[in-house]
Amino acid sequence: MGVRPQTQAASEARPPAPGLAVRSIAVDLLAAVFDRRQPLDALFDPSTGDNAWRALPERDRRLARAIVTAALRHHGEIEAALARLIERPPRRAGQLFRILEVAATQLLYLDVPDHAAVSIAMEQVTADRDALHFKGLANAVLRRMGRERQAILAAIDSPRAAVPDWLWRRWAGTYGEDAARRIAAANLEEPALDLTVKADPEGWAERLGGIVLSTGSVRLVADAPVPGLPGFAEGEWWVQDAAAALPPRLLTGIAGKRVADLCAAPGGKTAALIQAGAKVTAVDISLERLKRVTANLDRLGLSAEIVAADVLTWTPPEPFDAILLDAPCTATGTIRRHPDVAWLKRPEDVKSLADLQGRMIDRAVRWLKPGGVLVYATCSLEPEEGEHQMARALHRHDLEILPVDPGEIGGLTEAVLPSGAIRTLPFQLTGPTPRLSGLDGFFVMRLRRR
Ligand SMILES: C[S@@+](CC[C@H](N)C(=O)[O-])C[C@H]1O[C@@H](n2cnc3c(N)ncnc32)[C@H](O)[C@@H]1O
Repeated sequence: MGVRPQTQAASEARPPAPGLAVRSIAVDLLAAVFDRRQPLDALFDPSTGDNAWRALPERDRRLARAIVTAALRHHGEIEAALARLIERPPRRAGQLFRILEVAATQLLYLDVPDHAAVSIAMEQVTADRDALHFKGLANAVLRRMGRERQAILAAIDSPRAAVPDWLWRRWAGTYGEDAARRIAAANLEEPALDLTVKADPEGWAERLGGIVLSTGSVRLVADAPVPGLPGFAEGEWWVQDAAAALPPRLLTGIAGKRVADLCAAPGGKTAALIQAGAKVTAVDISLERLKRVTANLDRLGLSAEIVAADVLTWTPPEPFDAILLDAPCTATGTIRRHPDVAWLKRPEDVKSLADLQGRMIDRAVRWLKPGGVLVYATCSLEPEEGEHQMARALHRHDLEILPVDPGEIGGLTEAVLPSGAIRTLPFQLTGPTPRLSGLDGFFVMRLRRR
């Protein structure tokens, strides 16, 4: 007698384990994604993102971000791992599953000592009135996961587990099972940082410790936050995936021409069009996102006419020589960079976004001068948002395809479709290491109004 109260008092007096706040915030952020369907980009926005996350010291912010991003990247595998270890998942267990998920992410995928991951998780379980009943289970599961890590990982079919069933069926149906597997495997790699430089890619690659891709982008694995990298403050480059850099490049000979960038925010493609000498009108429906266009262009010392408007209702005062339409889409080509997309999107989103894209194309085509060129792009792997839009546009309007030559996109022959459009897949653009390989999945077509 007497031992128990004493032990309890001692444990109550103990200060929280270091790192507890980070893991608790990671649990809350995962709940925000899965339960409230909030996108990671919004949660991690430096000025408007999750308050608790923003209040953390910089080092902890980075750790929380690394845990949440890895938890989403490996969500399917972690679910499979937990399912192997928990025979009957308990009900009404509070945040038990999210706590286990955060701990499993660290045990299986991050360089965090096992004892730290497990003991912090146990503190979280203890502090959660509903999860507390399952403390023994949590402890046993996490300790076994630490001990049997290799065997557990080896038993999971990672690429398949990483993709929700509906998306797997789509990719396997569209590209074949083997390509679906390669897409999923590429999405499991943490991507490098891609930059579009104003000039001298070789010089910037050397200064930043990166490589120059055949498509012209500079690629690096950055240790420091982006704003601290050389050339950022001076406005010498902007962050843009190698595939996202391709669409503006297809508008050639635009110096001095009137070019519309529809759905422009945050402005990566706007910057490229201005760099090519065009007089750019950047249109986007979101005032908040347009602030980022203005900030980005200011930093880069570039300027454009900025219009806050809905492409479906706005009408330009005069037609354009060329239009870039980077339409809103399911973004299933960007899961490498945005692993939340895999779990946030729903099958019905494909249809509603494809409808919206079709209506946007119909409007954009009317704003072209005769002979004017439309480049349409989406960062989706779904044919409804790409190949089908091209067929529909050719059927509805007097347009001709201007086929892309592989030479225009750094010799990426495998990405040029027989139709002359571009279809990039996340496993293409092989680099010296898996981390330095891959690109976003995009569809891009170039059409001329006759
Ligand atoms: C794929 S993002 C554009 C990315 C941008 N082109 C870039 O390269 O940085 C799609 C954009 O479409 C905008 N958008 C969505 N619906 C719109 C509409 N009806 N009219 C205008 N912009 C719209 C969103 O606010 C979002 O910024």
